[in-house]
Amino acid sequence: MTSPSTPGTGTGTTDTPGPGPGSGHEVAALYGPEFAADPYRVYDRLRAYGPLAPVEIAPGIGAMLVTDHRAALELLHDTDTWSKDSRRWQETVPPDSPVLPILGWRPNALVNDGAAHRRYRQVVTDSFALIPPHELREHTRQTSEALIARFAGKGRADLIAEYASKLPVLVFNRLFGMPDAHSDQLVAALCGMLDASTPEEATTANTAFSSYIGELIAEKSERRGPDLTSWFMDHPAQLSQEELQDQIVLTMAAGHNPTTNLIGNALARMLSDDRYYSTLSSGGLTPRDALHDVLHNDPPMSNLSPHFPRRDVFFHGTWVRAGQLVLVSYAAANTQHGRTRPGESAGAGGSGGGAHLAWAAGPHSCPVQNPARLIATTAIERLTAWLSDIELTVPHDELVWRHGPFHRALVELPARFTPITPDQAGATPWGSSPSSSTRPDGTSPVRPDASASAGPPHA
Ligand code: HEM
Repeated sequence: MTSPSTPGTGTGTTDTPGPGPGSGHEVAALYGPEFAADPYRVYDRLRAYGPLAPVEIAPGIGAMLVTDHRAALELLHDTDTWSKDSRRWQETVPPDSPVLPILGWRPNALVNDGAAHRRYRQVVTDSFALIPPHELREHTRQTSEALIARFAGKGRADLIAEYASKLPVLVFNRLFGMPDAHSDQLVAALCGMLDASTPEEATTANTAFSSYIGELIAEKSERRGPDLTSWFMDHPAQLSQEELQDQIVLTMAAGHNPTTNLIGNALARMLSDDRYYSTLSSGGLTPRDALHDVLHNDPPMSNLSPHFPRRDVFFHGTWVRAGQLVLVSYAAANTQHGRTRPGESAGAGGSGGGAHLAWAAGPHSCPVQNPARLIATTAIERLTAWLSDIELTVPHDELVWRHGPFHRALVELPARFTPITPDQAGATPWGSSPSSSTRPDGTSPVRPDASASAGPPHA
């Protein structure tokens, strides 16, 4: 049994390193290059502690990490024992801690419990339910093709910077009701917040984001439309101005990074695996298979679902003190019985089948799963349809991953392909990009709506 004096006992900061199996005083750091390079090796080590392990999520900030699938499900559903409210914990953390933007308290769905949570969440779920899936698909198709057109003629692209990280932002810009002319402003703000390497860059991006949100709310206060902002504003929950702003910020922030990672991680697997490549000619694995693969084996958010026990609790063999930060490792729980590496077939009983926790579970599970899946599937289908011989320029195991405890995110995804000319009359991805994988009749199963894109993508 692990004693209650594990790291971060009742506080945010690491105090006494907990007793590790064998090592005695090692606490794994979920930040920095070692973790980013191979988080799965770290999870394997952490499993030696049992279902919960002590970790650091930033220098001096301790947490307990749930690595066991059954324990994770139990925690995610047990709202009597576990709270999402981070206010007490936050008082124990330095105000400039890098984890506060994600874990700090706001009046939003993510970090509230009970009736307050249900009210915020209802605004998000009811509003997304008003978006017809065929419109979201068409809108994502147009956005995908506009982005592809920007690099299609070059024969090379970084599929993170030029595609996966921009696409969700451009889609959100329109879903929230802003004209396309504002999309670059939102891209600069959201991508800038993610890429900031200095406090000054982070401040600039934050300011840009705040000013975008301010303009958005001002615009929609004047003129409602069939968009998420207007539906949030007019929702029967009657959000205050602050609550409105926080639900918009949460929805954009909670949607951007994970959707980028879902597209990026799935493309990384597809473009380095012949079984997907052959999809273009002989109907092997599809983009949907790639998403499924990634959700199990490289979940876009690897460790999140911050929870705080309402009282001292003995949980799966470990004492956790009231108010102590506990995170759920979706990545570790999903791969507890094996992980399918890129290019491998999922083994029986391995991580290829069964339920995964990539969307979390319980009352705080991702409320936007179907739209997110639709955006990612459409983005991947469009890219592989237009650039049918696209391939990575580096092997999958040499790809570089972003540092950070919460996500599984590629720094870049360099790819090459036969260039196509966007304004080439009558160009189709099949005619202008000859490849051995191309079916002569151009009816690959990855293009279910091929008729919708008989022309070239337009910038
Ligand atoms: C359109 C894109 C998306 C939007 C707008 C979105 C929005 C949200 C929102 C509002 C929440 C908070 C729900 C609550 O606390 O009740 C949430 C939670 C969550 N989402 Fe999504 N999401 C998107 C895509 C994704 C993707 C692609 C993934 C990864 C596969 C993901 C994984 C999660 C997880 C794991 C949580 C639970 C987080 C926690 O409790 O700490 N989301 N999402």
